[in-house]
Amino acid sequence: MPDRSMILSDVLELDLGDPLRAIRQRFLLPEGIAYFDGHSLGPLPRLTQAKLGEVVNDQWGRQLIGGWNAGWIDAPQRVGAKIAGLIGAKPHEVIIADSTSVNLFKLIVAASRLSQGSALLTETDNFHTDRYIASGAAELAGLDLRIESREKIEDSLDSTTNLLLLTHVHYGTSERYAMAAVTKQARGAGALTIWDLCHSAGAVPLQLNRDGVELAVGCGYKYLNGGPGAPSFLYVAEHLQDRLLSPLRGWMGHAAPFDFSADYVPAPGIDRFLAGTPPILSFAALEAAIEAFDDVPMQSVWEKSIALFELFDRLMSERCPELICVTPRDASRRGSHIAFRHPNAFAICQALIAEGVIGDFRAPDIIRFGLTPLYLRFEDVWSAVESCAAIMDSRSWDQPQFNARQKVT
Ligand SMILES: Cc1ncc(COP(=O)(O)O)c(C=O)c1O
Repeated sequence: MPDRSMILSDVLELDLGDPLRAIRQRFLLPEGIAYFDGHSLGPLPRLTQAKLGEVVNDQWGRQLIGGWNAGWIDAPQRVGAKIAGLIGAKPHEVIIADSTSVNLFKLIVAASRLSQGSALLTETDNFHTDRYIASGAAELAGLDLRIESREKIEDSLDSTTNLLLLTHVHYGTSERYAMAAVTKQARGAGALTIWDLCHSAGAVPLQLNRDGVELAVGCGYKYLNGGPGAPSFLYVAEHLQDRLLSPLRGWMGHAAPFDFSADYVPAPGIDRFLAGTPPILSFAALEAAIEAFDDVPMQSVWEKSIALFELFDRLMSERCPELICVTPRDASRRGSHIAFRHPNAFAICQALIAEGVIGDFRAPDIIRFGLTPLYLRFEDVWSAVESCAAIMDSRSWDQPQFNARQKVT
């Protein structure tokens, strides 16, 4: 990149040279917006729109209950295997079920029985559902909940640690843990680690098997574009599967659900982590969405994420220096969103949304922009920064309608 200030034609050239340029066509994006909220809710893939019509009309509409024998019942394993391909796991190590919160609960309670220690260790600033679920699950499992700041987590691992629960990429700042090293250190202290991959799957290259990861969960609605409330994935390394028992013993996790036997016998392998009937329409949406990654190596996705980050960071430093970047500049230490701190972050974010630049706000003072290489253009980064500069120069964010805090995003 040239050392002088960038101009729009430089940015358009980046789009022309982008090997993922054509992938944007796989998504339905409204005209006139720059969508930087794919780290919260991915947009609608074209194939999902078509596929949902087919599942509703042809499968549910015509086959009725026969649909269960025509591919519905295997959806948790089939879609799990597709996500396994994106996260460096074996096909039978991933299953789709429930929400991230519920899957965290299942894994904490199940895994707590394998280690000696008495404490569940997590980070003060972990995502809230992780902390809430950890408190309830620890209570049920008879563990002490130990909460430490990010800086102290690694030093806090000792022989009293039973489980370590961490979010790989931080939802606010986008900071990323060194997954292999931390998992190994926890193992050395006698603890298993559960990784929350909500901000990692489909965003950064993951190699769970290579990195010695044993337990993980993640959501389907962010970088995987599976739709609002898409079901979650749960990963258990092969060698642990038959040693863990889910505390939610539903019939779908039974070895023979349709025997209707009186006693619970866990299904072999990861299937035992199923509980109830899978929501087939949501599964269809997630399955179709994963096809948007077909023929796109995660390494190419990540390389474009780095380029989008570098452009965003550079333009913001030049045009809006009062917004302070809190995301690590070392690519190996971050995920795929860029976050800025400003005391008026909420109002600035609302003013940007009014201009068609959709990012989001996280309390108390962070604006996040998701960098989603499948459909974002470098041109979108340019527009976002130009809008932000205009808002900052005119102080247009300082109007009552941008300061009323009742919005979700
Ligand atoms: C790190 C993290 N974990 C969990 C969740 C949400 O979990 P659930 O799918 O149960 O709503 C989010 C949602 O944004 C998240 O960012």
